[in-house]
Amino acid sequence: MELQNANILLAGATGGIGSALARQLRAAGADLTLVARHADRLDRLPVEGRRCAVDLRMPEGSEAAVAAATADGRTIDAVLNAVGVVAFGDAASLSSDALEELFLTNVFAGVFLAQAALPHMTPGGTMVSMSGIISERNLPGMAAYGASKAAVRAFTDGFGREARRTKVRVIDARPPHTETGLVDRAIAGDPPNFPQGLTPDAVAATIIAALADDSVKDLPSSAFA
Ligand SMILES: NC(=O)c1ccc[n+]([C@@H]2O[C@H](COP(=O)([O-])OP(=O)(O)OC[C@H]3O[C@@H](n4cnc5c(N)ncnc54)[C@H](OP(=O)(O)O)[C@@H]3O)[C@@H](O)[C@H]2O)c1
Repeated sequence: MELQNANILLAGATGGIGSALARQLRAAGADLTLVARHADRLDRLPVEGRRCAVDLRMPEGSEAAVAAATADGRTIDAVLNAVGVVAFGDAASLSSDALEELFLTNVFAGVFLAQAALPHMTPGGTMVSMSGIISERNLPGMAAYGASKAAVRAFTDGFGREARRTKVRVIDARPPHTETGLVDRAIAGDPPNFPQGLTPDAVAATIIAALADDSVKDLPSSAFA
């Protein structure tokens, strides 16, 4: 994929990984639709692009984001989903509210976005989900988060096979722990002591290299080493 002038919808653009993706994609000349929940954080993002503040836990949020990205009549060349929340603590004590929030944000938002975007994708375009390394092996104290991410990976796998019919490539990115502050914004529980993580810029660079290289079909955790 040629990134110069590519029409790219970036969800979670204000986050640690999302903002690194935004900066690097814009530097490569992409035409961005920057999507996140909070308008004030989108306004503060020092990256040129259309802003779309929506709650992606509802299908209407994804529909509005896709409408913003296609407002000038163009199809979408790439959709990157860097939206997510995390929760810590034993599954036995996790509240139903936290469980609902995990699955609405991590799973349903991605499914709604995929549904809304697919009919508007350029043949040869790419969609990227971000399940993370935990979808390869779940961990105690993160069982529900890990389960939501396993659902992301499973959905991406099946959806990717369907999307091939319309010549859309679908990639699941599974980066290891990354220093974005996500764990300090947990919706429940306290984070364990993680070893030093990757930089958001390094993770974004690996994802963008995969976006530009049509031969890449998957981004396992080993691709970020
Ligand atoms: N950090 C890690 O160690 C790591 C490792 C592997 C995978 N991942 C995954 O990578 C993705 C990005 O992680 P991150 O660390 O960059 O997280 P982050 O810094 O907390 O960013 C999360 C982003 O999601 C947006 N968001 C949250 N809920 C939303 C909603 N309901 N509607 C619309 N946007 C919403 C936030 O927007 P607002 O700013 O408006 O709230 C923000 O832009 C997540 O899926 C995460 O699980 C992270």
